Amino acid sequence: MSTYLVTGANRGIGLEYCRQLQQRGDRVIAVCRSASSKLENLGITIETGVDITDEEQVGDLARRLKNQSIDVLINNAAIVERISLNSLDFDSIRRQFEVNAIGALRLTKALLPNLKQGSKVIMMTSRMGSIDDNTSGGSYGYRMSKVALSMAGKSLSVDLKPQGISVAILHPGLVKTRMTGFTDSGITPEQSVKGLLARIEELNLENTGTFWHANGEILPW
Ligand SMILES: NC(=O)c1ccc[n+]([C@@H]2O[C@H](COP(=O)([O-])OP(=O)(O)OC[C@H]3O[C@@H](n4cnc5c(N)ncnc54)[C@H](OP(=O)(O)O)[C@@H]3O)[C@@H](O)[C@H]2O)c1
Repeated sequence: MSTYLVTGANRGIGLEYCRQLQQRGDRVIAVCRSASSKLENLGITIETGVDITDEEQVGDLARRLKNQSIDVLINNAAIVERISLNSLDFDSIRRQFEVNAIGALRLTKALLPNLKQGSKVIMMTSRMGSIDDNTSGGSYGYRMSKVALSMAGKSLSVDLKPQGISVAILHPGLVKTRMTGFTDSGITPEQSVKGLLARIEELNLENTGTFWHANGEILPW
């Protein structure tokens, strides 16, 4: 049994991570701002009151989890605000950086004492943060913040390797969640998380720093 910590655990992909992990017998620490009834019904450990943009709230989480080992830390919480060139909103771009890139790095830094040799850190990024793959433009804040998150993941993979900690940068596919308006063209959170958990199993110190699609494809930066 391993201990997984998941942010953005109250809905969408985060909630599904919690469900599948609990079902297979792993210990889950679900982190969120406020718990949903679906999350509460899983009967797992829930840590509420954690906005990842808030230094104090993240620090408080680290104090609550002091001396608890984490085998897999999944940075999943994020926001999307779609901005085109004609509607550039710099506050919105800043907000997306705060949550999607800085928030994930802040939480990881705060919980470094909980990681040990063999632990894994997961950055839930997006193919929309692939520069090579960008043929449709737009989505300035989301795309820029996910590139920054991926870069943070890559640097962490280098810096944490000597401590035996590996890092993956994962894209979940297009998934039917609130973030995508539950799009009909998406896969279900169940399908996505099945693939994501397979990638996390495969992650090791040799392939640390890889940018993977949940389906196993290696994505271009
Ligand atoms: N769905 C897709 O097709 C897709 C594609 C590519 C990448 N992704 C990535 O996959 C991850 C999960 O996405 P999803 O589709 O499950 O999104 P979602 O349904 O919109 O869920 C986002 C989660 O992030 C939390 N969150 C947002 N801001 C936060 C903050 N400041 N502090 C703490 N938690 C915060 C939300 O909590 P509240 O309920 O409190 O708002 C919610 O639990 C994200 O990183 C997303 O970028 C998703």
